[in-house]
Amino acid sequence: MSSTEVVGKVDPRNKLNELSNRDWMMQTKSVWFSRPPQRDALKAQHPATFAESDIVRLIEFFTKPNQTVLDPFVGSGSTLVACAQSGRHGVGIELIEQWAQTSQQRVEAEPNPSSVRLEVLQGDARQRLEEIDDESFDFIVTSPPYWSILRKDWDHKVKAERTSKGLQTRYSDQDDDLGNLESYDEFLEELGVVFKQCRRVLRNRRYMCIVVSDFRHGSRFIMYHSDISRLMETVGFTIEGITVLVQDSKNLYPYGLPYAFVSNIHHQYILTFRKREP
Ligand SMILES: C[S@@+](CC[C@H](N)C(=O)[O-])C[C@H]1O[C@@H](n2cnc3c(N)ncnc32)[C@H](O)[C@@H]1O
Repeated sequence: MSSTEVVGKVDPRNKLNELSNRDWMMQTKSVWFSRPPQRDALKAQHPATFAESDIVRLIEFFTKPNQTVLDPFVGSGSTLVACAQSGRHGVGIELIEQWAQTSQQRVEAEPNPSSVRLEVLQGDARQRLEEIDDESFDFIVTSPPYWSILRKDWDHKVKAERTSKGLQTRYSDQDDDLGNLESYDEFLEELGVVFKQCRRVLRNRRYMCIVVSDFRHGSRFIMYHSDISRLMETVGFTIEGITVLVQDSKNLYPYGLPYAFVSNIHHQYILTFRKREP
């Protein structure tokens, strides 16, 4: 079945998507199993990507064909590829020139049967979003930087999966890369600037999904999903639900072994927010 094909009758009251009531219900399960295919060589260059297949599911739930999706941290362009696959227009913002080019190349290589508009804007999301009109998007989906989590060249996983293969471990060394901010509080504050703009450019009562996982920083376990949820509430969204995205095909590493419990995190959270009425 193509991802744009509608199976079953769409309820005439359904203004959100093109799913039958049965398919709608299936997508509301609070646990999803992520089964990403092997990443292509271009995508694999980027150190922290999400799977198009999961994003297609979100786009098809939260929009109708030909509506417009934004990703303010588009990285290797996965959201735009998912837009091409689902027949939705897409705009992606990416700070780092290398990743913006990767996004552009991946968009150009992806079949676009519905001829949707797919645009990569290079620059700092805090500034590029200011150029966009109010209420321009029907849905926003993104995975923001993970503070300084990528600055761990000694980490088992980073060594085995990135440095040993000559792949980059960080997005960049730029100061305006939010992943390079030293203080976690300052990092959250700057992320809040982006989320506030996201609220402005999103149509009223529409949804924004954020895909994140928690992480460890030194001896600190950071409940990133919970900090992001609070942040989103402060900029004018309500949290509508949390979906656990199980990633059980990831490798296991001997963190803490044999001295202390350290979790191998094999899931992400899809946090679903809705734009609150002013
Ligand atoms: C978690 S990655 C997103 C990966 C993406 N979901 C994918 O599948 O490729 C976060 C991205 O945010 C970018 N970034 C960091 N600071 C930024 C800023 N100030 N404005 C825009 N993008 C930024 C990073 O370069 C990185 O590519």
